[in-house]
Amino acid sequence: MKVLGLIGSPRVDGNTTKLVNAILEGAAENGAEVRAYNLSKLDINPCEGCTNCRTEGKCVIDDDMQQLYEEVQAADAVVLGSPLYMWEITAQTKLFVDRLVALLNPDLSSRLKVPKKLVLAYTQGAPDPDAFKHYFAHLEGLFSFMNFDVKGSIVAAGTYTPEDILQQPEILAQAKEIGKNM
Ligand SMILES: Cc1cc2nc3c(=O)[nH]c(=O)nc-3n(C[C@H](O)[C@H](O)[C@H](O)COP(=O)(O)O)c2cc1C
Repeated sequence: MKVLGLIGSPRVDGNTTKLVNAILEGAAENGAEVRAYNLSKLDINPCEGCTNCRTEGKCVIDDDMQQLYEEVQAADAVVLGSPLYMWEITAQTKLFVDRLVALLNPDLSSRLKVPKKLVLAYTQGAPDPDAFKHYFAHLEGLFSFMNFDVKGSIVAAGTYTPEDILQQPEILAQAKEIGKNM
């Protein structure tokens, strides 16, 4: 089983990386082959809205997203992590999400070759983990529509400094468990 981790925080050693890594660690302990990328380190350009992907079957922008399309297609499971920035996923994460439009056919059916499990992982400064639950449900809806098999969302709340999540061993343990069960 191949698990792909995608981290949308520009702080490469921050809380989101630690949260996603805990999930990947759990998956690896159960024999999965894991791989992770930080989206902010990749050259991912905004979707140009050319809609060529509808007819061509693939995105025409020549950047690192081409590799990620292959990685997503090759994976059995994806872990997408983002901090909350201004009540939403980061711009780096949104660039990736917008470009997933190339995985839709003209009739909006999915081009995903096999169903892929998906776990969404968030970190946020707000201490209440339910503060953005409607937004997280909205994103789960989007990925279900994209034909991902959404396994759920995990939220580490109250994280500000890059090390804050280390004070929440229960969340890291929960993340590891999610990875083991993938
Ligand atoms: C520009 C910016 C905007 C943020 N907006 C929010 C927000 O809307 N809600 C929230 O709870 N936390 C917000 N935060 C806090 C981060 O989500 C939080 O510190 C997160 O753990 C950062 O992840 P990282 O450690 O992986 O970089 C914001 C932080 C920054 C830098």
